[in-house]
Amino acid sequence: MEREFGMLAIVSDIHGNLEAFSTVLEEIDRRGVENILCLGDVVGYGPNPMECLDLVRERCRASLMGNHDFAVFYEPFNFNSGAETACYWTRSQFENDPDPVRRADRWKHLGNLPVRVRTNEFVAVHASPRRPINEYIFPDDIYTNPSKFVSIFERFDRLCFVGHTHVPGVFLEGPDFYSPDELDYKFELTDEKAIINVGSVGQPRDRDPRTSFVVVSESAIEFIRLPYDVDTTVRKVEQIDELDNFLGTRLLDGR
Ligand SMILES: [Fe+2]
Repeated sequence: MEREFGMLAIVSDIHGNLEAFSTVLEEIDRRGVENILCLGDVVGYGPNPMECLDLVRERCRASLMGNHDFAVFYEPFNFNSGAETACYWTRSQFENDPDPVRRADRWKHLGNLPVRVRTNEFVAVHASPRRPINEYIFPDDIYTNPSKFVSIFERFDRLCFVGHTHVPGVFLEGPDFYSPDELDYKFELTDEKAIINVGSVGQPRDRDPRTSFVVVSESAIEFIRLPYDVDTTVRKVEQIDELDNFLGTRLLDGR
């Protein structure tokens, strides 16, 4: 089988956090990784949705439709009030762009995001292979809803990359879950099926505030965590009335 992507970085859930995303891009460049795939939720929650969207378009081979991208273009589905207010503020950033050509171009991009990418080696979606935009696959589901995994694992051949929960790690068919820490930040590929959650660039929720992404090589998946200038992001959130201050402070402890 031919590798269609070569050495590949996979990022997800940037959520308008420019400081975190810039740090990730610098590390990707430092490692000489040429291809980047984004699993969606480029916007929503954070203070720099337009800058992140433009950077994703410039740097990523493809970007998928996440539930927040969907919410800004269509309508928020199952959002709490803080997330909904942030969604409408993000939408206003698109609408208030004074340059009509750029405004139309960004809208067109957002409305045309694919829901999945399939290669010879993997399938990638924002959320889950059976409900690609909205279904959460949580580590706790192993205990509370193990049958869910039977149906989810039937939907792909070998590897499936997801984001959405903002909790990085690997699900095996057991079902089992391993956090990056338990894997020593490296998952060696075997013939076993696996769902890999790449974590979130812009709003990690595993109690580790460092930005998260993965680099995929021929034989392994490396989980990468990096500190970034989170104080600047928190300050920007505080300066925008429509963004709840919690959307900033939660970044400080990764929740
Ligand atoms: Fe997200």
